[in-house]
Amino acid sequence: MATECIAAIAALRERVSRAKLAGLRVGCVPTMGALHAGHTALFDRARPDCDLLVATLFVNPLQFDRQDDLRKYPRDLESDLQICDRHGVDVVFAPSQDEMYPRPPVMTVEIEGLADGLCGASRPGHFLGVATVVMKLLNIVQPDFACFGEKDYQQLVIVRRIVEDANLPVRIVGVETVREPDGLAISSRNAHLNADERASAPALARSLRAARQAIQQGESCAAVLRDNAGAVLDREPLIRLDYFEIVDPDTLKPVERVTGPVRIAAAAFLGKTRLIDNVLATPS
Ligand code: PAF
Repeated sequence: MATECIAAIAALRERVSRAKLAGLRVGCVPTMGALHAGHTALFDRARPDCDLLVATLFVNPLQFDRQDDLRKYPRDLESDLQICDRHGVDVVFAPSQDEMYPRPPVMTVEIEGLADGLCGASRPGHFLGVATVVMKLLNIVQPDFACFGEKDYQQLVIVRRIVEDANLPVRIVGVETVREPDGLAISSRNAHLNADERASAPALARSLRAARQAIQQGESCAAVLRDNAGAVLDREPLIRLDYFEIVDPDTLKPVERVTGPVRIAAAAFLGKTRLIDNVLATPS
C-alpha cells in the first residue's frame, strides 16, 4: 500500500489510535525531510519492529538559529514521499507551520547542562527548539518507539533525557551513523560542499577514528588526543575546526582522562558548511 500523507494533527491521532486499538505496534522516525541514506537507515531499522511506521516531516522553525538557514532548507515533499514509500513507511505526518504552532508557544523545553557544550555552544537556542518540537511530535504520534540517528549525538542524548524526565511512554532507539565509502558521515549539508571541500571532508572522520584507535591502544589523556586530532586536521587547509571534544556519553561533560567508554565528538567548517561527526570509543 502506498504511503499515506497526513497534514492534520487530529487525522494523524485518529489513524494511530485505530492502529493501537487493533493491537498494532507503532514506530516513529522524526525528520525535517530532505531525506537521504541517513534517514532511510532509520526507516529500515524501525520497519521490522512495528506494524505502523510513521515518519514525521516538519521543518521546525524553532530550532534554526539563523533565518537564512531556515529559508535555504531544502523542501521536496513529492520526492520525500517516494523515498518513504520505497522504505515501507505507512504514514507521513507533514504538518504546516500553522498546524504545529498556531500561535507562538508559551511552553518550550529548556535543557539543563546538556545543551550548553558541543554544538550548543555555537548554536544558542537550537536544542530548545529541537526538544520542544520532539516533545510535541512524540505527544502527537504517541509511538511505542522512535528512532534517532547517532550522527546528531547531542540531540539523541537530549531526546533520551526529556523522555526520561517527562516519563513519556516511548522507547528511544539510537541508530548508527551511515557513512560514505570514504568515511564521511552522510548529511544533507554535504550537498553544500564544493569539490575541494568534499575531498577534504573525510579528514574529520579520520581524526575521530585516529583518536578512537589511540584510546584503544592505551592513550587516556584528552589533551593529547585533542592535539593529535588538531595535527591531523591541520594538514587540511580547507577545514576549520569548531570543536573536538572527548565527553562522557551520558552527561556530555568533557573528560580529562579516559577511564571508560567516551564519545569523541567534533564539528568543523568547510567554507560556510558546518559538519559534525562522532564515534564511541572504549579503552581496552
Ligand atoms: O534531526 C532532525 O532532523 C531534527 O532535529 C528533528 C529531530 C526531526 C527535530 O526537528
